[in-house]
Amino acid sequence: MPQTIAVLDFGSQYTQVIARRIRECQVYSKIYHHATSAAQLRADGVIGIILSGGPSSVFAKGAPMPDRAIFTLGVPVLGICYGLQLMGRLLGGRVGRSARREYGHGILHVKKPGRLFANLPKKLRVWNSHGDRLVRLPPGFSPIGTTENSEFAAIEDRRRNFYGIQFHPEVFHTERGTDIYKNFLLGVCGAKQDWTTRDFIRHAVEHIRQTVGPARVILGLSGGVDSSVAAALIHRAIGKQLTCVFVDNGLLRADERAQVESLYARNFHINLRVEDASALFLRRIRGVTDPERKRKIIGRTFVTVFEQSIKSAGRAEFLAQGTLYPDVIESVAIGNNPAALIKSHHNVGGLPARMRLKLLEPLRELFKDEVRAVGAALGLPREVVWRQPFPGPGLGVRVAGAITPERLTVLRRADAILHDEMMASGWYWKVWQSFCVYLPVKSVGVVGDERNYADVIALRLVESKDAMTADWTRLPYELLQKISTRITNEVRGVSRVVLDISSKPPATIEWE
Ligand code: XMP
Repeated sequence: MPQTIAVLDFGSQYTQVIARRIRECQVYSKIYHHATSAAQLRADGVIGIILSGGPSSVFAKGAPMPDRAIFTLGVPVLGICYGLQLMGRLLGGRVGRSARREYGHGILHVKKPGRLFANLPKKLRVWNSHGDRLVRLPPGFSPIGTTENSEFAAIEDRRRNFYGIQFHPEVFHTERGTDIYKNFLLGVCGAKQDWTTRDFIRHAVEHIRQTVGPARVILGLSGGVDSSVAAALIHRAIGKQLTCVFVDNGLLRADERAQVESLYARNFHINLRVEDASALFLRRIRGVTDPERKRKIIGRTFVTVFEQSIKSAGRAEFLAQGTLYPDVIESVAIGNNPAALIKSHHNVGGLPARMRLKLLEPLRELFKDEVRAVGAALGLPREVVWRQPFPGPGLGVRVAGAITPERLTVLRRADAILHDEMMASGWYWKVWQSFCVYLPVKSVGVVGDERNYADVIALRLVESKDAMTADWTRLPYELLQKISTRITNEVRGVSRVVLDISSKPPATIEWE
């Protein structure tokens, strides 16, 4: 196992960002519930502890507290924001209530670089977001940095290796934030930087072999990043013991099925079952216009088809899934922190329990960027590793209104042209998603001297970091013009192309 840094979660919206910053320094980090016992942390062999920020005041009733014994483990501790105030309070200092929250940019003046600010400038722009502040240091501590509002913006107890900072080094707005983490991890905790893609793959392959033994594993391959990387990784570990099932639901984009077959079956030599269930899906959603009903029908049909396929593939003991770390972190509900939701496991319709399958989730320790790095190291092409997200219900939610084979054909052709042009211009890699939507309206056009009463295609191009919010992409006019001209010229049945210029919110990325 790699060396572990424990991030105790006090409900900060940045807890996951802290864990990611640590991993960017090639040190493994794991998020723990804030009250995890010191004994547990010792048993896990953690080499350093970070106390996250949080929305609470240390004075609030029921304010989340750590096990005090973490301060006797003999491992370095870094308290951030609320974490610093906790340390102050629990170790004998005094925290004062502030009337006003300090929020936004501030300037940190480094008084004593020590190990935490080693090789950093004396003045740093930092990001603050806190109410209370430390007003008297606990015994053993001394100040190492100040801001306009706080003489104890950064503190240390060198003997015990305890550090506290009032600002948030994990957010992008803090200058050299990652270097502050690096100083703590390498300089203070003595971490070895043993969390690399190669190490991960080696550990994961061994672990999969041990877990699976001679049994067989089945995996639902969607062609998306997560299931593709899971497939490649498991295949590296157990080869032909893995069978992948790809369901053609009739709602795929042009050539999608052929691409999956060529990459996984021919290139990677993975056992691949392609279930052509398009007729069944299209029959079941015929005439359905309500988006939620469409999704439900498509989802349920997928489970039925997948279940059948598993049965006919023969006895498997494991069901593999591309579950990622953000799906399994049980964030704590503290105050009104919007990040605080206990995530439910998104198994395919309870199927593993019903079929008595054990779950194999080799990516459950990884963040998305780490998954991409693993995919690239396993030889998956850039088109897969950096593929834009595609919704599970596929083109089913991109044909607005009722779905017919004719409408799907029109949408596929238009979408393929958009895809072509996005690739040719390099814009495909710069946006979050780019796709066409079929609109169930007819519009009048002219072709030659003829009146042409035909379909409308909308272009949806968005930029986003996490799909929670999105802005429409300002594509160059010349490129938009080329795409529009090609679609109206080359796709029979389309007389008009429109551009969606709505952000999310209030719109969503998909139309349905
Ligand atoms: P919206 O439309 O809600 O989409 O702004 C946010 C992101 O999620 C994708 N999406 C889905 N992904 N199953 C999925 O796996 C779905 O049912 C689904 N609906 C939307 C969408 O493409 C965007 O990236």
